[in-house]
Amino acid sequence: MMISKMTKFILSFLILISITCLSFALSSEYSISSHGKLDKFSSDEEVFELFQMWKKEHGRDYANSEEENAKRFEIFKTNFKYINEMNAKRKSQTQHRLSLNKFADMSPEEFSKTYLPKIEMQVPSNRDNAKLKDDDDCENLPTSVDWREKGAVTEVRDQGDCQSHWAFSVTGAIEGLNKIVTGNLINLSAQELVDCDPASKGCAGGFYFNAFGYVIENGGIDTEANYPYLAKNGTCKENANKVVSIDNLLVLDGTEEALLCRTSKQPVSVSLDATGLQFYAGGVYGGENCKKESRNANLVGLIVGYDSVNGEDYWIVKNSWGKDWGEKGYLFIKRNVFEDWPFGVCAINAAVGYPVKTVLSSAM
Ligand SMILES: *[C@@H]1O[C@H](CO)[C@@H](O)[C@H](O)[C@H]1NC(C)=O
Ligand SMILES: *[C@@H]1O[C@H](CO)[C@@H](O)[C@H](O)[C@H]1NC(C)=O
Repeated sequence: MMISKMTKFILSFLILISITCLSFALSSEYSISSHGKLDKFSSDEEVFELFQMWKKEHGRDYANSEEENAKRFEIFKTNFKYINEMNAKRKSQTQHRLSLNKFADMSPEEFSKTYLPKIEMQVPSNRDNAKLKDDDDCENLPTSVDWREKGAVTEVRDQGDCQSHWAFSVTGAIEGLNKIVTGNLINLSAQELVDCDPASKGCAGGFYFNAFGYVIENGGIDTEANYPYLAKNGTCKENANKVVSIDNLLVLDGTEEALLCRTSKQPVSVSLDATGLQFYAGGVYGGENCKKESRNANLVGLIVGYDSVNGEDYWIVKNSWGKDWGEKGYLFIKRNVFEDWPFGVCAINAAVGYPVKTVLSSAM
């Protein structure tokens, strides 16, 4: 009796290990549960083994506190259950999936508090000038656009323990525009924005329109190589170089048509409600955790293109939570929703900003 129970446990543990190895072999990400294969391994012991493996994989140990370890295990267990339930509800391969990623030991409440403080929108007064008037060429847009393929997008960063997504969105938009206008792709300094933008709050969060304003008024921004990212508040360096400048910031009128047209011209900064994205592991997110009439936003990202898969249209959004989150650091979120979502899925159309740079004659 005892032996057969033990054997059963060892057997299932071995199966668990082999599935783990298999999924490690298939992808470098820790995505066991995203395949939903482990649903039946849900006894406490088995989830505990999974927790041990997860801790090892992510370099956590909570070694100095038994209490903390127990608390994190309970949270992990709840998240594991939620992830399996959500994945089981998927109706197609296209739909988004969740996994026990690096945020699996944080409760959704903790995650929201730490990573997703509400963004206070401050729409600049030039909003009315922005609309579509400089977009005279919005007919016959390509069916898909990917600025990564055109070499206008730098690598996905990891903001770490600093809420600097707004700064990475702004540097990303300027990096893209600079590549399009001058032909050069240069990593720009998000740390400079964290340290120097007087209207933002550094690692406590900031608003991207303000940060564009800083770059315009400062006459440029430094490279990441000169002014590297530290993931913490710092003092603004007075000797920062002005390597790439922009002339202006424009904002869109909130319609999906305008966003699509502008995205075909350059990467754009957007904000969105990312409440449901803690465990996002890929696929097209349909806004399952968002309210259709809401304009609330808590994350700033960069749209670098749009595409479709199996008839589902989506935006490609660069995030700054590292390459081990989502689609190698990117979010695919549903588009082509128009009236159904007045501000876009999770309010992604609500506050779109993009920099403007006059083509210099020397660069032409
Ligand atoms: C940007 O920085 C990364 C390292 O963080 C480097 O691998 C990459 O080559 C840089 N890109 C450019 C265009 O300099
Ligand atoms: C960073 O600086 C801002 C003010 O600029 C402050 O509100 C915030 O608490 C600081 N964050 C940390 C982690 O020190």
